[in-house]
Amino acid sequence: MMDKVQEQYERWIYPEPIEDLEAWVASGMFSVGDARECGDLFWPATGYREGMNILVAGCGANQAARYALQHPNARVTGIDLSEASLAHEEKLKAKHGLENLTLRQMRLEEVSELGQTFDFIASSGVLHHLPDPVAGLKALGDVLDRDGVIYIMLYGRYGRVPVYMMQDLFRTIGVEQTGEDLALVKDVIKLLPPEHPMKAYAGRSTDMKYDAGLVDLLLHRQDRPYSVPEIMEFTRDAGMAFQSWIQPAFYNPDGVVPDNHPLYPRLEKLSDEERWAAMELFGGQLSRHDFCVCRTDRPLDSYYIDFVHPEFPARAVPLPRGSNLAAAAGGKPAMLTGPQRPPLTLPPPLATIFQQIDGARTIAECLESAPVNAPPEVLRQHGLRFFRTLSRTGHIAFHLKETS
Ligand SMILES: C[S@@+](CC[C@H](N)C(=O)[O-])C[C@H]1O[C@@H](n2cnc3c(N)ncnc32)[C@H](O)[C@@H]1O
Repeated sequence: MMDKVQEQYERWIYPEPIEDLEAWVASGMFSVGDARECGDLFWPATGYREGMNILVAGCGANQAARYALQHPNARVTGIDLSEASLAHEEKLKAKHGLENLTLRQMRLEEVSELGQTFDFIASSGVLHHLPDPVAGLKALGDVLDRDGVIYIMLYGRYGRVPVYMMQDLFRTIGVEQTGEDLALVKDVIKLLPPEHPMKAYAGRSTDMKYDAGLVDLLLHRQDRPYSVPEIMEFTRDAGMAFQSWIQPAFYNPDGVVPDNHPLYPRLEKLSDEERWAAMELFGGQLSRHDFCVCRTDRPLDSYYIDFVHPEFPARAVPLPRGSNLAAAAGGKPAMLTGPQRPPLTLPPPLATIFQQIDGARTIAECLESAPVNAPPEVLRQHGLRFFRTLSRTGHIAFHLKETS
């Protein structure tokens, strides 16, 4: 028997089917949380490896085929409960000759039936639709290799407040997931007062542009959002370890709250989890959380970015993540900018230190080679704090060398 979630995704397949994946890739699109794109973040000790066994759990219409195309040396398995979505994945598999892709109709809660384990699992926009999301993550954790990583996207509690207002309104007036009622939904959104919070949300949301997206956003029959503390609890309840945010800049004050503002030291006194929670409330806009988790028995020194560990500066090699340093000119300070990261103004000594990053030198070596005139202890202290800011704002990742 079909449950209400399956029924929805059989009729309203999500996301909008991509007809030509090669054209999609050529247009510069990539998946958030992609294993190669985020390889340094997921596996600081080893980086991305070719030939991985990848699971896309709740793949929808395109995601498993996208993975198979973009990771030709990986074995990719896509699972979903919607036959209609998998039919489109099959179409893409045939069109692009994706021999490395296997598709299965099943609930992710039953994934152990595949009899395999995986190096990487992507589950984006799925677990918050399960009757028991913790059981879902536990099931994924049970098929994850010891050094594997699960990338997850869950809805954000505060950024989606307007969405839940509308979901409540449409439930109250008895709107169904039918073509006729969808026409009413579109009319109601147009009729909302200009100052309604949904107006601004609708302007930003790509889901508003097609019918299945509208159903997914405003008429879903089972969906729950998460705040930062709820994500931490969810991860722990499933017996997994929280590893990292994909966009750490959204969860840290660096580059957002001036460090001479009285708020900054208050935030710095908090634990990591408290600071992330505080910044979610401060920012107020997060409608999704992208993060990764791993097994609790994965060796901590292979992934944990530990700025206070005495060996860290000699082990950590800062890796550039495509940010651009515009040199100081005409009285203007040097500026570091990059996509979805707060810009940082760098005074000359910090700009010089940043220029030492070459993907091979450790933090200690960058500080040693920078022509900065300061006592070693002062340089080490300020330098380490600078690298922490670069990491918290997403301007760099790290490769962790083996411990001595
Ligand atoms: C919002 S869509 C996301 C699709 C895809 N992950 C993406 O990001 O493009 C959610 C998908 O999860 C699937 N799904 C929901 N509950 C599931 C479950 N318990 N097991 C497997 N798939 C599920 C739905 O059928 C749907 O295709």
